[in-house]
Amino acid sequence: MKKKKNNLRKINFSIELLIVFFIALLSVSGIHVGLIVLATQKGWNDTLQILIPILYWGLIALGLTIYTGMRVHKAYAKPIEIMAKATSKVANGDFSVFIPPQNTTDKIDYIDTMFSDFNKMVEELGSIETLKTDFFSNVSHEIKTPLSVIQNNAELLKSDTITEGQRTQCIENILHATKRLSGLITNMLKLNKLEKQVIKPKPEPYDLCIQLCDCALQFENQWEKKDIEFIADMEDRAMIKADAELLEIVWTNLLSNALKFTPSGGTITITQTSDEEKVTVSVMDTGFGMDSQTQKRIFDKFYQGDTSHSTEGNGLGLALVLRILELSEGTITVKSELGKGTNFTVTLPISMNDEGAVN
Ligand SMILES: Nc1ncnc2c1ncn2[C@@H]1O[C@H](COP(=O)(O)OP(=O)(O)O)[C@@H](O)[C@H]1O
Ligand SMILES: [Mg+2]
Repeated sequence: MKKKKNNLRKINFSIELLIVFFIALLSVSGIHVGLIVLATQKGWNDTLQILIPILYWGLIALGLTIYTGMRVHKAYAKPIEIMAKATSKVANGDFSVFIPPQNTTDKIDYIDTMFSDFNKMVEELGSIETLKTDFFSNVSHEIKTPLSVIQNNAELLKSDTITEGQRTQCIENILHATKRLSGLITNMLKLNKLEKQVIKPKPEPYDLCIQLCDCALQFENQWEKKDIEFIADMEDRAMIKADAELLEIVWTNLLSNALKFTPSGGTITITQTSDEEKVTVSVMDTGFGMDSQTQKRIFDKFYQGDTSHSTEGNGLGLALVLRILELSEGTITVKSELGKGTNFTVTLPISMNDEGAVN
């Protein structure tokens, strides 16, 4: 944790208060002497000579008490009152609370620091709250869609009037929806485990080129069906020390996205290069591409830029990819142009630490 520089104004000693007290005491003692002189000159009787100074000092004590009360109220009671009102708002779920600093920047004290830390905490809480709400509505939506497909198709299957062809289609739809649901749950669980670091990368030396080829071959049927040209430009061998199982998720996701967002007749190119420290893999397609607004959000959980393909995924793919690369000390960048295509570039160290990246 960062230590804060302790150059804050202390509020337990105030020069201003010292000057006020000094001038006040000087004047009141002057007046006191004046009163004694007056009493002697006027020849007041004994009772008056005692009563008048007592009354006078009583008034002075009252004045000082009121003044000190006002100071204490301004320095402590008022900020505590402001803080109490703000915390009660936050406790009732209002995260828009902001307490302005009480002093100018050159006179910042501990109360101002407390206010500014409080503001930061409330802001953080607010963003966690938004994330939580978004997360719930995203998950609910992703679960509800396939569930209603299952429900509708099961209803149809119950009817006696449907043809054999329709029956097969219903079963296909139900199977597709259950696959989606199980894919969603698997991705959510995996992402959660990676975020909490329950899964830690287990680096082992292996040949990245073989892995890239194997992953690409899994999609062979699909690119042939879609008439997409697949080009692989790789070294013969690229030994790296990393977690092969986790990295497979990265390549599969990048390739499946390229395939999903490239129309028939397009090209997907996978390139791999290396130097002494790192390997670079890029997956390039001649597909739909993305605008800059979409590019900024693609690594967010559940974000899907292209809704026309939303039934073929759940927007968790790139969030998983990013988390895996963070844990594997790697990086990912994206370059894309709408209507022209997309290029994802991943870099990985030749040999990652056995402990994995800690973040
Ligand atoms: N190769 C690509 N070409 C165009 N858009 C892409 C590509 N890869 C990812 N995207 C965009 O990023 C979004 C998020 O991707 P991802 O997290 O894998 O979710 P999903 O594949 O489930 O939609 C996609 O919905 C799409 O809008
Ligand atoms: Mg995807």
